[in-house]
Amino acid sequence: MNKQYDVVVYGASGFTGRLVAEYLHNRYGDTPLRWAMAGRNEEKLKKVRQDIGCDAPIIIADSKDKTALDKMTAQAKVICTTVGPYAKYGSDLLASCVNHSAHYCDLSGEVPWMRRMIDNHHEAAEAKKLKIVHSCGFDSIPSDFGLYYHQAQAKEKLGAYCSSVSMRVRAMKGKFSGGTLASGQNVIAEAIKDKSIWKVLTDPYGLNPPGERKGNDRRDLNKVEYDDQFNSWIAPFVMSNINTKIVRRGHALRGYPYGSDFQYDEATLTGKGWKGKMSGKMMHTVTGLVMGPKPGTLMRKIVDKFLPDPGEGPSPEERKNGYYKLLFKGKTEKGDTLATQMTGDMDPGYGSTSKMLGEAAVCLALDQEDLPSCYGVVTPVAAMGDVLLNRLVQNAGLTFSVK
Ligand SMILES: NC(=O)c1ccc[n+]([C@@H]2O[C@H](COP(=O)([O-])OP(=O)(O)OC[C@H]3O[C@@H](n4cnc5c(N)ncnc54)[C@H](OP(=O)(O)O)[C@@H]3O)[C@@H](O)[C@H]2O)c1
Repeated sequence: MNKQYDVVVYGASGFTGRLVAEYLHNRYGDTPLRWAMAGRNEEKLKKVRQDIGCDAPIIIADSKDKTALDKMTAQAKVICTTVGPYAKYGSDLLASCVNHSAHYCDLSGEVPWMRRMIDNHHEAAEAKKLKIVHSCGFDSIPSDFGLYYHQAQAKEKLGAYCSSVSMRVRAMKGKFSGGTLASGQNVIAEAIKDKSIWKVLTDPYGLNPPGERKGNDRRDLNKVEYDDQFNSWIAPFVMSNINTKIVRRGHALRGYPYGSDFQYDEATLTGKGWKGKMSGKMMHTVTGLVMGPKPGTLMRKIVDKFLPDPGEGPSPEERKNGYYKLLFKGKTEKGDTLATQMTGDMDPGYGSTSKMLGEAAVCLALDQEDLPSCYGVVTPVAAMGDVLLNRLVQNAGLTFSVK
C-alpha cells in the first residue's frame, strides 16, 4: 500500500480524538510514523496542534462531503476515527475506506450501526484484505484481549481452553464524555423508531456472521442478583451489550477455537451482604436514569442538564487518577478452573481508550505482515491478536496476570 500517511486521526478536534493525537505525538513523535490530523474545522484542528505542540499535517473533510472523504482515505494506510455518533457521521467514511483500500479502526459501541456496516462491507473488505475494526477502546479491547489472555493461560496451565468464562468488573474509576452519551442516546433513539434494532441489541449473537450462532449464551444480565462463583452481588455492566457481542463475533471469525458450546458473560461486582445488594440496586437505577428517558421528553431534558455536552469530558487529573480492574473466571469441560485479571492504568473511557485506539491504529499501519490473516469487518483480537496484545502491555498501560 503506497500511501502518504500511515495513520490519519479523524475527529482530532473532539474530546477523544485530541487525546489520540496527543498520544501519537508523545509516543511516536520521534519515530518515522507519518500521521495527520483530520476533521471538519481547520481553526479547531490548528488549535489542537498548537496545544499539543506538534506539526502534524491537517486534512479537512466534513463527514457529509464524500469527495473530501475519498481524498482523505486515498492518502491513508489507516483511518482512525473518533467522529461519533458513528450512525450519524460514520457510514460514508467507512465505505470510502473500503473503496480506497484504507484499513480502519474506531471507538464505536453502536451495535445496530456495526451490524449494518458488517452486512454492507464485510465481503468487499475481506476480498481486498482490509481490516475494518470497530470497538478499539474500553469497549471492547479489555474484554476481547482479557478473554484471549485468559484462554491462552488456560491452555498452558490446564491443558485445555475454558468452555465458559465470566468477566466481572472488580473496580473502575472514570466518567463519561458528552460524545459517548450522545452516541448511547442515538442508539436508543434509533431503536425506538425501528423495532428490528431491539432485536439486534437483545440477540446475544447480534453481530455474528450470518448463520454463525454457535454457543451457549443467554441475554446479558438485566437485574441485580447474587453470583455464587464470585461470592458477591452483581449488577449489569453498562458495556456488556457491546463487549459480549464483539467477543462472540471474534470467536466465530476465528473458527470457534474455544469450542462450539463456549459461553461468555459480563457483569459488575458490587460486594457481599446487604451493602453489596444495595449498591448493585443503586448502580442499576442510576444507569437507567441516565440512559432510559426517551429523546425529546421532559425527563430527558432534566437529566441532560446534569450531563456533559459533546466536546466535554473528564479533566486531565480525573483521567490520570482513573483506573479499572477486570476479573475473568473460567472452567474447562473437566471442571478445572482458572482466574485471571486485567487492569488499565488510567480512566477507562478516555485516558486508557485513547492509548488503546492509538496502538490499534499504529499496529494496523506498521505490523500488517505479522497480523493474523483475518480480514473484513473484524474484531480487535481476530484482526491483531498477539501483536496488539504486546503493544497494549508495552505502551498502553494494560496488565494481564493469573490470579
Ligand atoms: N468505545 C469507547 O470506549 C469510547 C470511549 C470514548 C469515546 N467513544 C466514542 O467516540 C466518539 C467521540 O466521542 P467524544 O467524546 O470524543 O465526542 P466529541 O468530543 O463530541 O467529538 C466528536 C468529533 O466529531 C466531529 N464531528 C462532528 N460532526 C462532524 C462532521 N459532520 N464532520 C466531521 N467531523 C464531525 C467533531 O468535530 P468538531 O470539533 O468540528 O465539532 C469532533 O471532532 C463517540 O461516538 C463516543 O461514543 C467511545
